[in-house]
Amino acid sequence: MLAAIGSAVGIGNIWRFSSVVGQNGGGAYLVPYLLAVLCFAVPLMVLEMSVGRHLRADVVSSFGRAGRSFRAFGWLISLILLLILSYYLVITGWTLAYLAFSLLGIDVAFSDFTSSLQPVAYFLISALATGVVVSSGVKRGIERLVSVLVPFAFLILLALALFCLSLPGAQTGMSFLFRPDYSMLLRPGLWSAAIGQAFFSLSVGMGILITYGAYLDDDADIPKSALIVTVSDLLAAILAGIAIFSLVFTFGLPPTAGAELAFITLPKAFELISYGPILGVAFFALLFSAALTSAVSMLEVNVAAVMGQTGMSRRKASFLLTMALIAIGLPSALSYSSIGLSFFGSRILDLLDGTVGTLGLPIAAFLVAMVFRWFMDEHLLYSQLGVLSSWMRPLPFLTKYAIPTVLMIITILSLMEH
Ligand code: PFF
Repeated sequence: MLAAIGSAVGIGNIWRFSSVVGQNGGGAYLVPYLLAVLCFAVPLMVLEMSVGRHLRADVVSSFGRAGRSFRAFGWLISLILLLILSYYLVITGWTLAYLAFSLLGIDVAFSDFTSSLQPVAYFLISALATGVVVSSGVKRGIERLVSVLVPFAFLILLALALFCLSLPGAQTGMSFLFRPDYSMLLRPGLWSAAIGQAFFSLSVGMGILITYGAYLDDDADIPKSALIVTVSDLLAAILAGIAIFSLVFTFGLPPTAGAELAFITLPKAFELISYGPILGVAFFALLFSAALTSAVSMLEVNVAAVMGQTGMSRRKASFLLTMALIAIGLPSALSYSSIGLSFFGSRILDLLDGTVGTLGLPIAAFLVAMVFRWFMDEHLLYSQLGVLSSWMRPLPFLTKYAIPTVLMIITILSLMEH
């Protein structure tokens, strides 16, 4: 369960959540976000964990158990994850670099940093670290890592949020974060942004929870585990939001800075504030830990799939996949450097995020819901869940009808936007 929390709590909670909230008018966004989490992401999470524990197999074999030809979907999802991971690790590298800069007490402008070749070095370190953890195994690698980093991340988050609440801009920050502006709810873009963010933030629909579900004890209560993961993820996002918006409003910085919020806006605030250097170290240590435990979960899905399908050892599979990851991620790492690798006029990292990162997730989640709810014995679901408690009663309907429909609509809408 800690590993699932480690996967869920990532850059998405701290950086993406705040920037999406900022760009969507603050508190208004929380309403569709909470609805998306409760109605779509949690039921799918319960489904994935049940499939994983029932079949106790990697994602490709799991799809294969529903029908041999579905194995291709399992591979497709692995590939989507590998592509997402390739640029997620570039951003993980940025967080590591900024952690190093804050520890050394040097001030590096984001544009100077990205136009150098340093991002490539930090990307390589992050990719290798992820590979080493996964290669050490589920117990010795992943469990050990998450049992240290997840509590560590929550401690930092709590301390940061409490400290930032004492700043003069905290009040304005809080009303920005929690004030609902119901007129925003009429914008359809808000709803698909909220649903996309809910799936991304909870790491749902990508086979991660099928893979981790396979390692779950027989007596673990799946709905309860799913709720704990969800509440932890929400808590992380809210605590990060409290810290970030208190800082932003204290220094009159723009809350809508989007992707630049973490690397440009906040370092400015850290320069101005007392204890700023310590806050900077804490913030980037938090971002890096959160990113690493998420990256590990994405690689584990691929390593488990390759091991399961080829009989290869964990070490060899981890080594080969890490090398592949480095080869695939290098263009993204170079896309922000002075070489500025771009394709069709947009930087490769942004291109991957805008295509695979945005479309891959709803497509993968659609396949998971469709295949496991329409082509697999329903008893599987119930055998893992026991008697459904009252809050779980809508789950069969939601996973079978509502979620595939909503995901299809989102996919079509974002295809039309492209
Ligand atoms: N949930 C992670 C975050 O919030 O940063 C990111 C993530 C991990 C997204 C795994 C998708 C995924 F499959």
